[in-house]
Amino acid sequence: MSELNLEYQGVIFPAHVHSVDSLSYSRDHFQVRDDDLFVATYPKSGTTWMQEIIPLIYNSGDLTPVLTIPNWRRVPWLEQVTAKGLLEERPSPRYMVTHLHHNMMPKTFYSSKAKVIYVARNPKDALVSSYHYHNMATFLDDPGTFEEFIDTFLEGKVMFGSWFDHIRSWWPLKDKDNFLFLTYEDMLKDMRGALVKLGAFVDRPLSEDTMEAIANQCKFTNMKQNNMSNYSFVPLELMDQKKGNFLRKGIAGDWKNHFTAAQTEHFNSVFARRMEGLNFPYYRD
Ligand code: A3P
Repeated sequence: MSELNLEYQGVIFPAHVHSVDSLSYSRDHFQVRDDDLFVATYPKSGTTWMQEIIPLIYNSGDLTPVLTIPNWRRVPWLEQVTAKGLLEERPSPRYMVTHLHHNMMPKTFYSSKAKVIYVARNPKDALVSSYHYHNMATFLDDPGTFEEFIDTFLEGKVMFGSWFDHIRSWWPLKDKDNFLFLTYEDMLKDMRGALVKLGAFVDRPLSEDTMEAIANQCKFTNMKQNNMSNYSFVPLELMDQKKGNFLRKGIAGDWKNHFTAAQTEHFNSVFARRMEGLNFPYYRD
């Protein structure tokens, strides 16, 4: 493992924004409240998108928060070094994002009534997105060739560990009342449908006008223009957006432009093996 990373409970974290202290704080000391909302994602699966959508829902479509507060402050990460300062004193209801696996969540989470929205994305597209991200972010390892990165990803030797372990840890919660499972692809296809589900789930039913305002702001093209969401304030030395934007393509199926037939076959066979017995109906081909 390179010096850019640290390992905690067998999982790799980028050391740039995580520390053993921040991870043990989130695990052992963070006090979950019953009215907390967590958005759980594997990296590159729509986290930034949800950091736009959730404040808009809680503020009935008022754009002020998303146009004035950077995404990482407005919906902080539970496990990052900034979490304590940003979340501990924040009045309820709090919302936050996390890339943690279910079994790594705060100890006080499991007995709480806190709600969780899980957003899944086709792992081949998350891999492609992550590959490009590794190429532009200097605080992440050099991904090597695309072929090499496929193996690194399939072995789970990437930030936040294995996609398979992540989804396997959260999917069993799918029928719980305080859990909502969404996919990146469904949000792309039908944002209004996703907003109806989200509004009902967080007890904030949305009017047609509000949904239209939110759907408009959350369009990829509009988020790309939003300096509070497109990471344009991050210095080039950390994220070289000359090499490619953080908000890169925002589509489903870009993996088809990257994977060879042999790579697809290999990925699919590992997928079938690693997902065996889970009854998870998505992303089988
Ligand atoms: P691509 O690299 O495939 O474009 P995360 O926020 O979890 O790191 O995920 C980043 C991915 O979500 C990027 O994927 C990014 O472009 C995409 N994304 C962010 N906002 C989006 C939006 N409004 N619509 C579609 N995709 C979006």
